[in-house]
Amino acid sequence: MLIITWRTAIFFVCALPGVEILDPGQVVYSETRTNGVVGRGVILECGPTLPDVYIWGFTKPGTDTIRAIVYNFGKGPKIQKLANDLGNLTVISNSASLSIEKLPLAAEGVYTCQALYDTLEGAKLPFVITLTVPVTKPYIVMSDSSPVEGTSVTMRCGLENGTGPINYKWEQESRESQLTTVAEIYDDNRLNVTDVNRNHTGWYRCIAINQVNQQRSDRVWLDTIFGPDQPQIDVTPYSVTERGYSALERETVSLLCQASSNPPSQYVWFYNNSQVYAGPQYTINRILRMHTGHYACLAQNTYLNTRSRKTITLTVKDITKGQETLYCFVITLQSPLHALNVHLFLTYWGTNNPKFDMTSNLAQL
Ligand SMILES: *[C@@H]1O[C@H](CO)[C@@H](O)[C@H](O)[C@H]1NC(C)=O
Ligand SMILES: *[C@@H]1O[C@H](CO)[C@@H](O)[C@H](O)[C@H]1NC(C)=O
Ligand SMILES: *[C@@H]1O[C@H](CO)[C@@H](O)[C@H](O)[C@H]1NC(C)=O
Ligand SMILES: *[C@@H]1O[C@H](CO)[C@@H](O)[C@H](O)[C@H]1NC(C)=O
Ligand SMILES: *[C@@H]1O[C@H](CO)[C@@H](O)[C@H](O)[C@H]1NC(C)=O
Repeated sequence: MLIITWRTAIFFVCALPGVEILDPGQVVYSETRTNGVVGRGVILECGPTLPDVYIWGFTKPGTDTIRAIVYNFGKGPKIQKLANDLGNLTVISNSASLSIEKLPLAAEGVYTCQALYDTLEGAKLPFVITLTVPVTKPYIVMSDSSPVEGTSVTMRCGLENGTGPINYKWEQESRESQLTTVAEIYDDNRLNVTDVNRNHTGWYRCIAINQVNQQRSDRVWLDTIFGPDQPQIDVTPYSVTERGYSALERETVSLLCQASSNPPSQYVWFYNNSQVYAGPQYTINRILRMHTGHYACLAQNTYLNTRSRKTITLTVKDITKGQETLYCFVITLQSPLHALNVHLFLTYWGTNNPKFDMTSNLAQL
């Protein structure tokens, strides 16, 4: 019925902005394209002044049917039920313009306004609304969140809704909270990391950006599995000779083994190929010459079932050796009649020079 009304109207059509008349009685429609954003508002204008009669029609994309959403035959605007699906649709007072708040996805389509004026002018103004859907909060999916060093990982920035093209930014936050932008990828939500190493360990976030907004994901931890590296052994007290480490008898000697690994290394100590201790630090209290030999630290990554080993040689020296001392005492006693006066002379021969001369001190006794 509404379309019939319009067919009558077209007979009287004259001119209106946006409408070109090539031949009286023929209307050429101009089309206005509006880019709406889901969740935001849009205003569709129909003619510069309030027409006497108007009808707004709506056509869903991919269909031909025009369905009335609002009309005004002079008794005020009548909003049709269909309009409820298109968001909060209202007619702006004293005009034939529509305002739609909070556009839903279903509002995408062609809006057509047919207007009749008392002056027998009329027009049909189609609007095409294409809708852009803002990006929703993305989330990260990793092909492997605990990759082994040397393998590859693909991270995907998942997204429920959002009109493309969408750009993706990837951020890494290290253990020390240092933030770096790892990549900015156009229209591809994947980040490939080939040849993963321990420096890739950290928190990852992706940011999805389209023409209307951007959203950041929660952070996801990437834990690179590696090691153990070649162990490092620290000997205290530190003393080295050309034959390796050396220690003095009766000292407390501590051997500390460290090998980078994730998960952390498990350590086992060997003395001349026999296991003597489990743990990173092997301490020998009051070391003896019989403790001379080869000390090996074995570091193991129990998750990967990998191991590495380092051996040192420790020589324990007798403190008296090389310090052979010979003491020789010569004591002279002098005894005058009136008093007991003792002169004691101490003489010393040895490889270590004496630091004091006891002779004179003792002589005064
Ligand atoms: C629709 O919009 C009108 C006018 O802006 C407002 O008064 C009304 O509360 C809105 N309704 C809803 C459901 O948002
Ligand atoms: C994504 O779009 C669908 C379809 O319009 C909607 O039902 C859903 O609520 C949207 N999801 C989010 C997170 O906005
Ligand atoms: C990541 O790898 C996948 C498959 O291995 C490939 O299809 C994709 O193009 C790669 N993406 C980038 C950004 O290199
Ligand atoms: C990791 O980072 C450190 C410090 O920046 C660097 O010295 C090292 O070479 C890096 N390792 C790899 C495997 O890239
Ligand atoms: C360990 O090996 C060293 C060097 O081969 C040797 O001198 C030492 O006697 C050995 N100790 C034991 C207890 O076998």
